[in-house]
Amino acid sequence: MGFKITDELKEEIRSRNRLEDVVGAYVALKRSGKSLVGLCPFHNEKTPSFSVSPDKQLYYCFGCGASGDVFDFVMQYERLEFVEAVERLAERAGIVLDIENETPSQRLSRRTRDVLLEINTLAARYFRYRLLRSKLAAGAREYLSSRGVSAKSAELFSLGYAPDKWDDLYTLLAKRGFSTEVILQSGLVKKGRASAYDVFRDRVIFPIRDVNRRVVGFGGRTLPGKGESQPKYINSPETLLFNKSHVLYGIDLARDSIKRLERSVIVEGYMDVISCHQHGFTNVVAPLGTSLTTAQARLLLRYAPEVIILFDADTAGQEATLRSLELLRREGLRVKVATLDEGSDPDSFLKENGASALQTLLESAANLTEYRINVIVSATDLSDASLKAEASRRCIEALVEVIDPIERSEYSKYAAYQLRVDEEVFTREVERAVRRGRRAGDTFRKNRYTRQVESAVDPAASQESLRTPGAGDALAEKLTKAELLLLGMILDNPSLASLVEGELIEESFSSPSVFRIFRMLCDEAKQGDSEELLSAILNRIDDEAERQLIHRLSVGAEKLDSVSDPRRTVLDCALWMEENRVGRKISSLQLDLREAEKSGDSERIRLLGKQIMDCQRLRQEIRAKMSNPNEYR
Ligand code: GTP
Ligand code: MN
Repeated sequence: MGFKITDELKEEIRSRNRLEDVVGAYVALKRSGKSLVGLCPFHNEKTPSFSVSPDKQLYYCFGCGASGDVFDFVMQYERLEFVEAVERLAERAGIVLDIENETPSQRLSRRTRDVLLEINTLAARYFRYRLLRSKLAAGAREYLSSRGVSAKSAELFSLGYAPDKWDDLYTLLAKRGFSTEVILQSGLVKKGRASAYDVFRDRVIFPIRDVNRRVVGFGGRTLPGKGESQPKYINSPETLLFNKSHVLYGIDLARDSIKRLERSVIVEGYMDVISCHQHGFTNVVAPLGTSLTTAQARLLLRYAPEVIILFDADTAGQEATLRSLELLRREGLRVKVATLDEGSDPDSFLKENGASALQTLLESAANLTEYRINVIVSATDLSDASLKAEASRRCIEALVEVIDPIERSEYSKYAAYQLRVDEEVFTREVERAVRRGRRAGDTFRKNRYTRQVESAVDPAASQESLRTPGAGDALAEKLTKAELLLLGMILDNPSLASLVEGELIEESFSSPSVFRIFRMLCDEAKQGDSEELLSAILNRIDDEAERQLIHRLSVGAEKLDSVSDPRRTVLDCALWMEENRVGRKISSLQLDLREAEKSGDSERIRLLGKQIMDCQRLRQEIRAKMSNPNEYR
């Protein structure tokens, strides 16, 4: 990050990115009263329930509860971190972040990064030129063609060759005027005892590019028969530009196709990526010889919710691999696993069996849970009762993590069958473990973004949270029509608050948190500035369900435009809520009365009877004041 995010910066960006324009680039919006509506981009639907308020600059989906401002939208839609959303929107509005906002040390590292990028770009061109033209590269060219890499693929991946020389690249870079210091920082050159020398020598070069096609680092492979003393592959060291755990090989070329195909495929090696792309599988990427990281999972999640793991047969069942899969799942990806035969990798599989065989293999990829069960079962001797019990326990652990109950029940049956245990007994154990887990409170508190992303990303795994957003605590669902209308109208026109402020008490509302919001609205309304009311309120609220309610009220869903007399309507809402409160009071007094009658407490019976009559009279009075008592039910 090369800049500070101040409130002023946020406001500047907000004011220059109209929500309806940003959303409008992805969603066809139609005017409906004061709002714009369209098909929600966060869940599947056929009738529009996604609502945008141009006045309030907030959105809310009545189907899935996705809600927020322009930053939330970009974060949710593009699966970006907040900082990245700020960058994206600043860029969209033509606001230059770095220059105006960066600190001196940020400026220095940005400048260094620019120079390193120049060096990498130049080096990639140099390696490429060598591979194509140099006599010294004959062996490398032969090797690539023996591996079946087409000229077109080599071009697409900008493959190169670093000749068997000690300082060709160093000399070139120095001649171009780069200081030794910055050349060393690029990681392409190392300081030796006598002099600096090139890191990549006599290797086929795989430039590593980020999503934006910038060359951030390099991989290099030895040629065959050049001594086993050398590691087969080396990578650039970590630099200001290159962080191995943040990039995926091939992501620049795979990005768009992952989006289009709605899933990515992860393989292990550089050659696997190239071979897959050459055979038409353009959504394939690989980590750089390390196990998968959270950052890589998030990178993939930006483009598609599903990922298929296509690892070599010998790594597929390993613990490290299982941990990687688990990590991907935790980040919200739908994970599937395709298994290759022993001794085969995607590259050799393609050569032996062709593209359609790989297609079939990918289509039949097992769901992560199914795969975990398979791995556990196939490693267990089921004739040994205690081993079988242990395997069952591990399967239950895997099953507990399946959120959707129907899916869980299907996999439970599958596991029971594989384990050769009684289906009913096993399923019951799974459900018990699920309940135990819930009670233990291990459903960690999610922040306002992960929750949205999860429900948006994995409809299968979180049906529940899709229907009742905000992890089931959609406040709006619990409110009466009168409450929604009352709060919506005050939000729209804060001066209305004073009409009803004194009339309503906590018991008039359907929950204390709605009363709290009402109080906040009244307080802020007194500050006078109606423009600021909304952001003042949102700044004061931490609770996600409460924020969501404000978002919903703000998009004007309560049909405020059709209200002809706002003052009358606000008063009516308050009266209706009061009538409701008194009604509840009467019911509870009647319960007490029945108790008193049972115990024959005549004094108490008389008192309660009087209270009930008072309340009934009060209710009549309230009803008489209402202009249309049946309106708000
Ligand atoms: P080929 O052997 O040419 O088919 O390459 P490959 O890409 O199939 O490599 P392999 O399956 O042996 O290894 C998978 C990945 O692990 C490679 O693409 C590298 O990223 C990484 N890797 C393999 N060997 C080494 C090594 O010696 N050092 C380092 N740092 N990484 C390695
Ligand atoms: Mn290989």
